[in-house]
Amino acid sequence: MSKTYASFVSIGAYAPEKILDNKMLEEMVDTSDEWITKRTGIKTRHIAADNEYTSDMGVKACEKAIERSGLSKEAIDLVMCATVTPDYFNMPSTACIISDKLGIHNVQAFDISAACSGFVYLLSIAKAFIESGMKKNVLIVGSEKFSSIVDYSDRGTCILFGDGAGAAIISATSDKTKAIMDVHASADGSYGDFLVTPAPGSVHPASQKVLDEGLNFVKMKGNETFKLAVKTLTQDVKNILKHNAIESHQIKHFVPHQANYRIIKAVGDALKFDDEQIVLTVDKYGNTSAASIPMAINDIYESGRLKTGDLMLLDTFGGGLTWASALLTFQGK
Ligand code: UT7
Repeated sequence: MSKTYASFVSIGAYAPEKILDNKMLEEMVDTSDEWITKRTGIKTRHIAADNEYTSDMGVKACEKAIERSGLSKEAIDLVMCATVTPDYFNMPSTACIISDKLGIHNVQAFDISAACSGFVYLLSIAKAFIESGMKKNVLIVGSEKFSSIVDYSDRGTCILFGDGAGAAIISATSDKTKAIMDVHASADGSYGDFLVTPAPGSVHPASQKVLDEGLNFVKMKGNETFKLAVKTLTQDVKNILKHNAIESHQIKHFVPHQANYRIIKAVGDALKFDDEQIVLTVDKYGNTSAASIPMAINDIYESGRLKTGDLMLLDTFGGGLTWASALLTFQGK
């Protein structure tokens, strides 16, 4: 019997209409456009409307990915959503809500929590489901309403994060040349306190104390996270390239997690990537966590830079701590 491979066949994304720029942040906290631009490369982020939820953004990204795949909704046999800002903590899952809004019923659907690494984690799960023969067409979506857990009086975090969603279809193929070549995903829970949303959860169920102490907001050890991100992302890329006997100059698009331009630059330099190889969207979207990588892929797709067969290297890092990388060709049209 011929082997089954998983292929990345389409991409879609959505960014909400409202824009929060650095000048607006200057009015909210003690910061400046100059500081933010120099230290992060971020100029603007998109913020969801009050009545626009993680599932709504996810649906818009999924609709594009489904349409571009040429598949009917009936052909999708698994829906997975990566998010740390689900519609509800934690039932029903955002994947169930997205499936329902898309009109996809009686199909397995669930969420995963891997923070910014979520989308690449989903790739590894989709690949395993497809290669095992259990599923044929998997819809994966990273969607975040990060503004719902950001404290807009904390200048260490509020300048970084934005909202958005990105989705892809991963389909079965017998053609090895179209396969997702490799996905590495890993974690080290001992650094869990670097990035944490303390409540609500079983440690701190919702209470007046949670609200009084702002435990419902994301907390980050920014500088420590920064240093570990550069080290881990660089090592992760070296490992996956070596494991697959690929040199960095063979990569058409290096798509790193869009957290901070200085992290991306440091990793790009260490790996000797040219500027044309590095995909950058952090200036306009900020850090959109699990949506960051697929939003960046969608950007090069919509601008016409991403062509069928192009070799992409994805590399991401986030709360957990988690990290992941993937080597794959784009098989969309
Ligand atoms: O997606 C998950 C992964 N997340 C990340 O990778 C985020 C990683 N971290 C970062 O991007 C950076 O650490 C930040 C952008 C958050 C901070 O930049 P930094 O160069 O690491 O600055 P720092 O935390 O070492 O702070 C340097 C100074 C401090 O002032 P003092 O103590 O030197 O007087 C901060 O209080 O900058 C100050 N500062 C700010 N100043 C103006 C911190 N945030 C701001 C701000 N505006 N927004």
